[in-house]
Amino acid sequence: MSDVVPVKLRPEILAQRAYKQGQPAPANSFKLSSNELPFAPLDSVVAAATGATEFNRYPDAAATKLRQALAEHYGLTAEQVLVGAGSVSLLYQAVLAAAGAGDEVMYPWRSFEAYPGMVTVAGASSVQVPLDRDSRVDLDAMLDAITDRTRLIIVCSPNNPTGTYTRQDEFERFLERVPSDLLVIADEAYIEFVTDTEALNATRLLADYPNLVIARTLSKAYGLAGLRVGYLLGNPRVLNAFNTTAIPFLVSAQAQAAALAVMQEADSVRARVNEITMRRDEVRRALIDQGWPIPESQANFVWLPCGELAERVDEILRQGGIVARTFPGDGIRVSIGEEASTSPLLAACARALERYPYLRREEAEAE
Ligand SMILES: Cc1ncc(COP(=O)(O)O)c(C=O)c1O
Repeated sequence: MSDVVPVKLRPEILAQRAYKQGQPAPANSFKLSSNELPFAPLDSVVAAATGATEFNRYPDAAATKLRQALAEHYGLTAEQVLVGAGSVSLLYQAVLAAAGAGDEVMYPWRSFEAYPGMVTVAGASSVQVPLDRDSRVDLDAMLDAITDRTRLIIVCSPNNPTGTYTRQDEFERFLERVPSDLLVIADEAYIEFVTDTEALNATRLLADYPNLVIARTLSKAYGLAGLRVGYLLGNPRVLNAFNTTAIPFLVSAQAQAAALAVMQEADSVRARVNEITMRRDEVRRALIDQGWPIPESQANFVWLPCGELAERVDEILRQGGIVARTFPGDGIRVSIGEEASTSPLLAACARALERYPYLRREEAEAE
């Protein structure tokens, strides 16, 4: 097939790479590439989704019952909640509503791979603020990077793919200094895996900052990645504007029913999340003992800093039955999966260090 595009399209879209999904795993390998929950869906959730059989009808575009349930969960009104087909589609809606040609959207980098694409689609410019030396979001540098053209700042905590988190007090100080008419989105896709009490939970700040919107999802801790349900919490007038940029009917009736059902399963969800966070801390500790310089993670994944060796380490992981997410020239994000994935993961990581001793903490620090 010829590489020539046969019609006139926007050059910036042609230049942009489409979002690349985490790799599937071959048989006998573990898929640790998409930060999914490794457990099968709960019976009640399967029953709710399969019980929603009115395929001949459009779903409720406003997701009324789900918004109500989420509002009650957070002590908010339904108008302060917007539901979408995963938080990624809500982030697209927000970017489209906030920024157009000539405007800037700021976010940390490295961070969620989908941010650059949504800014390009909106016709706006990305301002990527590098993480600090500890792979954390650098809020001071973000404040310094605000210009008259900034229309939206996204802060991802815990940050994908490093797992590092923003503290509540530093985020509050940051919000105090951001102009009050500048939209800030706290992307908290992994908040349920946070165990450090100092970490950001932006819901506490909603009442004081009308320019703050929080993005959350049922894809991660709640295990509904395949059904596509996410939500925003924020000021009703702001969320209304985001609703205008939505493609209608994206959240199916099956997804809405499953989401309502999983929200009734708080104890089971909590138990599953605890299992993952305990495994995360064990895996990180074991990797540090091997000599890996792993940043603290408060999410359901850990970050292996590999620099230029990322693709070579990825090869060793694959040979060891681990399919992770590799960022060439930078590092590898490994999701915390089923218990059986831990020993092959640790064995492969140990082999990688043997092969490339430079990756060890002390060696990397000496550079
Ligand atoms: C930081 C972050 N935000 C948002 C999302 C989007 O998740 P979803 O669209 O499944 O809700 C992801 C998914 O990986 C993510 O890592």
